Amino acid sequence: MSPRPFITANFAMTADGRISTKARTPSDFSSAADKRRLLEIRAACDAVLVGARTLAADTMTLGLPADDLRAARKVRGLPDIPLRVVVSNTGRLSPESRVFTSGLPPAVVFSTRRMPTRTCTALAGVCDLFLHLAESVNLGAMMATLREEYRVKRLVCEGGGTLLKALLAADLVDELHITLCPLIFGGAKAATLTGIAGDYLPASVRLKLVEMLPVGSECFTRWRVLRAPV
Ligand SMILES: NC(=O)c1ccc[n+]([C@@H]2O[C@H](COP(=O)([O-])OP(=O)(O)OC[C@H]3O[C@@H](n4cnc5c(N)ncnc54)[C@H](OP(=O)(O)O)[C@@H]3O)[C@@H](O)[C@H]2O)c1
Repeated sequence: MSPRPFITANFAMTADGRISTKARTPSDFSSAADKRRLLEIRAACDAVLVGARTLAADTMTLGLPADDLRAARKVRGLPDIPLRVVVSNTGRLSPESRVFTSGLPPAVVFSTRRMPTRTCTALAGVCDLFLHLAESVNLGAMMATLREEYRVKRLVCEGGGTLLKALLAADLVDELHITLCPLIFGGAKAATLTGIAGDYLPASVRLKLVEMLPVGSECFTRWRVLRAPV
């Protein structure tokens, strides 16, 4: 098996297990403390990964908007910000997205031969583009590329649920950070940690709680993914 990064994920989740508001905004329902924690987790990683719909729902650059965290990375001999990675099967990404236009070091996009030619041409000039010759991105191969070509040892997936489910199904998640937020959304079509409720995962993922820190009315939790010994 090719070496891959240690893969963690970070989500804010309501008490009824929802990760998205009615307006499909990713982070509007968690506190300033949670948003700071998100940046701290991001700063501790070599790369940050999001799915195409999270990118579309969010206007963030995926940079590191915290002077102290960027300075601390510099002291550790790391680039200012982690590598920014976007994944899309269809390749229907907007080259106008802030992730490509913010003037930060080029992001990396993994997509497939389904990416429209026009998008391909536009993105080739503003990011590192990897197109898998298939209908969907091979996530294991993507992780191997990140490890081997970009020296990514630790990666955080910041959403969304569809992408996390695909990573879990491929046994590519090592750790989960979940901020439990004091809200209940309801909503049959409200996204959960694994997207809008659909098929079960091929196998249940077993977790071990390794950290639990109440802050205000939220609770920061960290879980290790348990694997059967081979
Ligand atoms: N609470 C939180 O912490 C949090 C965090 C992040 C996001 N969110 C919320 O989650 C929602 C977005 O999540 P989502 O589940 O709808 O979408 P998502 O996971 O962000 O993105 C899904 C898209 O990513 C691409 N993708 C997914 N799996 C892939 C795979 N195996 N290979 C290649 N590409 C893959 C596909 O793009 P294409 O369709 O282009 O092929 C897919 O449609 C938003 O409403 C956002 O607000 C919440």
